[in-house]
Amino acid sequence: MCGIVGYTGRRPAAGILVEGLRRLEYRGYDSAGVAVQCGPDLRAVKRVGRVSQLARALDQERLEGCCGVGHTRWATHGRPTEANAHPHAAGQGRIAVVHNGIIENFAELRAELEERGVRFASETDTETIAHLIDEAYEGDLLDAVRRATEQVVGSYGLAVACSDEPGAIVATRRDSPLIVARGQDGCYVASDAIAMLDATRDVVVLEDGQAARLTADALELFDEAGGAIDPVITHIGWDLEVAEKGGYPDFMLKEIHEQPRVIRDTLAGRLVGGRLQIDELDLSPEELNLIDRVCVIACGTSLHAGLVAKELIEGWARIPTEVEAASEFRYRNPIVTPSTLVVAVSQSGETADTLAAIRDARVKGARVFGITNVLGSPVARESDGVIYTKANKEIAVASTKSFLGQVTSLCLLALLLAQAKGKLRMNQIRMLFGELADTAEQVEWVLGREEAVREAAEACVGATSALFVGRGMGAAIAREGALKLKEISYLHAEAYPAGEMKHGPIALIDEGFPVIAVATRGPVYDKVVSNMQESRARGARVIAIATEGDEDIRAHADHVIYIPKVRDAFSAITASVPLQLLARRIAVLRGCDVDQPRNLAKSVTVE
Ligand code: F6R
Repeated sequence: MCGIVGYTGRRPAAGILVEGLRRLEYRGYDSAGVAVQCGPDLRAVKRVGRVSQLARALDQERLEGCCGVGHTRWATHGRPTEANAHPHAAGQGRIAVVHNGIIENFAELRAELEERGVRFASETDTETIAHLIDEAYEGDLLDAVRRATEQVVGSYGLAVACSDEPGAIVATRRDSPLIVARGQDGCYVASDAIAMLDATRDVVVLEDGQAARLTADALELFDEAGGAIDPVITHIGWDLEVAEKGGYPDFMLKEIHEQPRVIRDTLAGRLVGGRLQIDELDLSPEELNLIDRVCVIACGTSLHAGLVAKELIEGWARIPTEVEAASEFRYRNPIVTPSTLVVAVSQSGETADTLAAIRDARVKGARVFGITNVLGSPVARESDGVIYTKANKEIAVASTKSFLGQVTSLCLLALLLAQAKGKLRMNQIRMLFGELADTAEQVEWVLGREEAVREAAEACVGATSALFVGRGMGAAIAREGALKLKEISYLHAEAYPAGEMKHGPIALIDEGFPVIAVATRGPVYDKVVSNMQESRARGARVIAIATEGDEDIRAHADHVIYIPKVRDAFSAITASVPLQLLARRIAVLRGCDVDQPRNLAKSVTVE
């Protein structure tokens, strides 16, 4: 949510900042801006809209200078206008600030500043920080930033430039990610390493309260008390190809096609000497055996991965499992004990609600496992153990490959718990692991047959609403299918357990209403087919996700999209792929920007 970038060095800054912002655009895309030190002044250019609009403006208003900060915004306080776009200035342009996060006490701070005669140019919380820094400035930017942030309650990743200290940038953070690095020709700061990857792969992930001072020749780090500290270097394993579409029309399609690789990488090295091993979790089999309840907390798509996990953990390990939206968990008083295993699932590893729920669970004595895609992310750092999904950077705002990475990791966790509890024999675990590994090839099979998806998409494109139904595992998959469709095509979609249709939602159905049914061969197949018949009898246009070879289903559906035959437990992996493709195809046909849907941002660092 909001992308920050900063550069100081020997090359012109504006181009580097814009390139960084393009790569960070997935984090927010309602306005963008940069401020560059041009001679004695910091000059800013901002535009409402995409980074491409900012780039065009910068072609006209050339900002010559080798130090600057930039930002791409997802509005929280104040509408997306040029005045509200970052960087925010104070002290007649002496200070330029870009900020990611939320200043909770900004109203009080603003009132106090106004009382002291400060005039505000925007409605944002960020502008208060710019003025606080300006007030605190006595010739040392690092000190001014520290004194200003001491007054702030909330979360922030900040990069600050000051025209009285040309060539320097100060960066600091609390509960919002910030990465700094030294490249060949200067120093970089950004909210995601992707913005600086062509300069260096060796980065420093700032910890909460730490600060950095960047100049062309030096990167200095400081702890909360202001003492100098040595950098801890993290090497970024993935490369810049992830930021390119690689011949695909959009990132979403590229990422959907990466899923077989994600499954293989997530499983690599997990079966050692015939035993399942997840060493990162740092729990002995005896400790795992003591777990008597599992609670999965997550948001959005990650929450749907949690619904899949419930089926698996209860099915294989026979441990009662609850799944709850982190945004609800954190504000109730959930029953969590030291024998509860809390599993926090988050692609970005920085979702504010999930982090708050993790903290709450740990205070209550639970052991927390994180499942995340981002190395060193807050979820990884604040959990007792972490499984990394090997999806690599996901750029499209709608999660696809990270969802499959999460489900694959949760399959592993469920098997591990079953192993520790002795609920499955070793040969059963090996067999299930083998079948799980086979899903990579099965997903490839699905990806090679998009034609049926196209036909079904064309049939849905004129609809105003759609229902996704399924039972058991299929109900969880249906929820993910409906979320994908609504977020990228802006078509209303709802998911319902198929058996519940007759208790209300069936009233929605009239001639041509699309009902997408997850009807794979499994324990509830016949029941789902009955529900399809009920829908069809009322005029619904039924699209079935069915098992290859099931010709009978054609009698009950207008369109059939086949997936290979897999055990019901693994159908979440294979059946979610056609639903991703369907949502994308409908969105494309409706002329939507599938990678950057309106009102959304890739990481949700505010509640
Ligand atoms: C939907 C989507 C969101 C995220 C949700 C949680 O495609 O991507 O629903 O799943 O915002 O994000 P993470 O997983 O980063 O915690």
